[in-house]
Amino acid sequence: MTQKITVLKGDGIGPEISDAVMRILQAAGSDVEFECFEVGENAAQNGELIPEAAFTSFEANHIMLKAPITTPIGKGFRSLNVMLRKRYDLYANIRPAKANAAVKTPFPNVDIVTFRENTEDLYIGEETQVDADTVHALKLITRKASEQIIRDAFTYARTHQRKKVTCVHKANILKLSDGMFLDIFCDIAKEFPDIEADDKIIDALCMRLVMNPGDFDVLVMPNLYGDIVSDLTAGLIGGLGLLPSANIGSEYAMFEAVHGSAPDIAGQHIANPTALLWSACMMLESIDQADCAKRIRRAVDQVLMQGTCLTPDLHGNASTEAYRDAIIAAL
Ligand code: NAI
Repeated sequence: MTQKITVLKGDGIGPEISDAVMRILQAAGSDVEFECFEVGENAAQNGELIPEAAFTSFEANHIMLKAPITTPIGKGFRSLNVMLRKRYDLYANIRPAKANAAVKTPFPNVDIVTFRENTEDLYIGEETQVDADTVHALKLITRKASEQIIRDAFTYARTHQRKKVTCVHKANILKLSDGMFLDIFCDIAKEFPDIEADDKIIDALCMRLVMNPGDFDVLVMPNLYGDIVSDLTAGLIGGLGLLPSANIGSEYAMFEAVHGSAPDIAGQHIANPTALLWSACMMLESIDQADCAKRIRRAVDQVLMQGTCLTPDLHGNASTEAYRDAIIAAL
């Protein structure tokens, strides 16, 4: 049966890259039907940052493809991204960073999957103005959310023939919050004796990642560290334009690129749609359309390897649409 997909077209570069991705999915013969919604700054003039109909669509379809949405810094509305993750309990954020032979980097062997807890930590955004010069921010870590993400990371490692899961934390300083996360990790690791388990303090991990990224396989960590570390892994594989992600809960799944709405290049038709396209491939794999995802991945690899039609972030001079058409031609 044709799978209906709720598509939030985002703002900034969102509409450009989501149009390209939907065209490629159609050309690849995916068995999906898109229900598209304007959101964020593009919908704000109607008074609703995400129209109610988009929530209704997602609650019926359970699968969403989401383009990036701008979050103003220090003012304006709270992050719609964070709201969606919380509202639908999309507790696991999975970010695979795999080097692509076509994109030259000093680290051709990177193949790291970050499991980022997605609903708590400092990301709950609970800040209190104590006095004019003092602010408190609340870091929330719960046993339930920690167990879920850690067990998912180990299960993924087992089902994807991965060898090692590394817990990332700052338990030497945050003895209660990160300390509990690490304790839970050590307990759950015992249920997976076939998978190697170790842990790294976040600062040491960052150094090791840029010196020896090949040492790492699956990483699991609380929300804020996951946000930062996954951008670092994006850098290792050649940039943010190449990092897909899945936000998974027990009932709903939302697929999106890791990068943001890139207001500096919005409307210029030079955005790279690959990260959102690979997120769409993760989506197709999750709805039993892995063959279609494979065809798309092969076509993207072919265009990247040829290297004659790349967007400027990959040192080419092609437009988003020219790159899209090259992938469609390769299909
Ligand atoms: P950003 O990821 O939008 O941009 C960082 C840099 O990477 C910029 O120079 C941009 O031009 C470039 N870039 C990003 N995606 C690209 C692509 N597909 N192709 C080519 N170049 C690309 O990060 P920034 O500027 O910090 O955030 C902009 C807005 O996006 C903020 O409001 C932020 O809150 C929001 N954001 C939204 C996310 C989401 O919807 N999931 C995730 C991250 C940020």
